[in-house]
Amino acid sequence: MFNNSINFPGKFIAIEGIDGSGTTTQTKLLYNWMKKRGYKVHFTKEPTGFLLGQVIRLALKGELKYSDRVLALLFAADRLLHTEKIIIPKLRQGIHVISDRYVMSSIAYQGSLIDEGWVREINRFSLPPTLTIYIDVPVRVSLKRIMMKRRKKKEIYEEPHILERVRKMYIEECMRNKERCIVINGDRGVNEVHSDILKAVRKILD
Ligand code: TMP
Repeated sequence: MFNNSINFPGKFIAIEGIDGSGTTTQTKLLYNWMKKRGYKVHFTKEPTGFLLGQVIRLALKGELKYSDRVLALLFAADRLLHTEKIIIPKLRQGIHVISDRYVMSSIAYQGSLIDEGWVREINRFSLPPTLTIYIDVPVRVSLKRIMMKRRKKKEIYEEPHILERVRKMYIEECMRNKERCIVINGDRGVNEVHSDILKAVRKILD
């Protein structure tokens, strides 16, 4: 169906990383930078604010108990809805879309917990981003940041042994897709990370 975001006038950028890597901070900084520069840009995130995304949030907090397979399907369904209702219409209008997490989150998280091939299959209709930016941080750094910011109950994936596997999956997946994915060292100050992200984004905007 939709197999190439290059066909749209807008560019699609996804920002990825393990919990505590700073994806939300960096997505917002990039969005503000693009807006200030006069680009037409839309900020979005996964899980979404749709009903499915809200159900996923409850499951992440452990308030709904779902198996890893059911959760994988929910993430994939939320993503398809997101892609059809928001991402593609914006890209078609020539509006750039930046998403705090997209399909690589499912490959890395669900793919490290259950059958990776099946996770890829149920995400077959996701749209390959023009550029995926993977922010890499060691798990001890991610856990320290999560503890420092903690306002809420621990989420289901915030465990060292899970995050180690997720990080490994992210690195492997990004290496496999070098022409569309860049690894950025996230174990630095917010502004240093932001400036490296800008360098990569400028290349696809010009
Ligand atoms: P966040 O909103 O703080 O980034 O948290 C979302 C959590 O959901 C995070 O632990 C990553 C996880 N997640 C998946 O496991 N699979 C997915 O496809 C997505 C989008 C997120």
